[in-house]
Amino acid sequence: MPERHVVLGVSGSIAAYKAVDLASKLTQAGVAVHTVMTEAATQLVGPATFRAITGLPVSTSMFDLTNPYSIEHISLSEVADLMLIAPATANVMAKLTTGIADDLLTCTALATRAPILIAPAMHTAMWENAATQANFETLKSRGVRFVGPAVGRLASGGFGAGRFASVHDILGIALGLLGAGGDLTGRKLVITAAGTRESIDPIRFLSNRSTGKMGFALAEAARDRGANVTLITGPTFLEPPSGMSVFPVESAAEMLDAVKLVSSDADVLIMAAAVADYTPEMCASEKLKKEELDIDFVLPLSRTEDILTTVTGIPIRVGFAAESQHLIKNAQRKLVAKNLDLIVANDISRKDSGMGADDNECTVLDRKGESESLPLMPKREVAERILDRIVALLDQA
Ligand code: CTP
Repeated sequence: MPERHVVLGVSGSIAAYKAVDLASKLTQAGVAVHTVMTEAATQLVGPATFRAITGLPVSTSMFDLTNPYSIEHISLSEVADLMLIAPATANVMAKLTTGIADDLLTCTALATRAPILIAPAMHTAMWENAATQANFETLKSRGVRFVGPAVGRLASGGFGAGRFASVHDILGIALGLLGAGGDLTGRKLVITAAGTRESIDPIRFLSNRSTGKMGFALAEAARDRGANVTLITGPTFLEPPSGMSVFPVESAAEMLDAVKLVSSDADVLIMAAAVADYTPEMCASEKLKKEELDIDFVLPLSRTEDILTTVTGIPIRVGFAAESQHLIKNAQRKLVAKNLDLIVANDISRKDSGMGADDNECTVLDRKGESESLPLMPKREVAERILDRIVALLDQA
């Protein structure tokens, strides 16, 4: 992937300290982060922190002769694939709206042709002020993108709108914007993740050990390659990814309905979810009491509908096969039975791979009967390799 550059504008909100984490996560994602700080921001966090985290010079003034950029705001504005202003104060938003350029951050924002993403952070009264709201609307109408502000506890001790969005959300949206023009641009991918839950009564359910990590990794990787992603997920402890549509579902039946609802215009369906094959025939409306049940209580189950078999007509359909024995043979059989373009075979008997693990070792099988073994690697890398195969199939289609 070509190197992507973000100019990270940090202005004088208490949330400036969270921008350090943001800079770190962007850097870990392979992004070159060029930090520009306002004078006020430097009162809150030291430029040396950003420099150490990003490994790149930090700019704080228009006239800093020690920095490598020739005319600083022009060089920075041109190097940017994205200008991310996080946190943005009410003051910075007002300056951007009127075109005031009286420091390096606002000069760079005025000069850049890159997309601008703003994460505001301020006290609720400042956010709700008519001037800030008007500036927010004007900036949006000019194509500036916003993430947050969130509603929550504020540095002032109060509670309300104006809180800096989570670093997770800002990161996701920034990476999605940086992915524009990637090899999945213009493609809609519907991806399912995690296990489904089949209710027995109001508090009990049948489920499986899937955590959703593989499906989430696929969704994030596709987003970062420019795809329009819809993620349909069963219950999971994972934080929902930002920069995509996320539909939480519970049961296999709900997942089927959601897939049908969103996939009519999809280019690709990836079923990474571990969907229950059986569901209780009835969900009791009250909690089941053991004194009212036989000692050998038998729970009648009925088959769920197979989503991959039911939802056809999508150009590329990819399944996963979770197997504890005869891995390749069973996966091959599922590929044919479900008429798939690819199937990813996982050996679920291993502790270090597959369900719940951060890594996966798997084999990708295709219609031609060819197989590609992927050694143990982080799920995000597995996701990239699966997407490489999907891109190749889309290009042939
Ligand atoms: N799948 C599906 N709908 C179901 C069950 C499974 O679409 N009701 C999908 C899964 O998301 C996966 C693929 O089918 O992509 C294979 O799922 P898996 O559980 O490995 O196999 P099953 O077909 O359910 O067969 P078995 O459980 O007997 O191995």
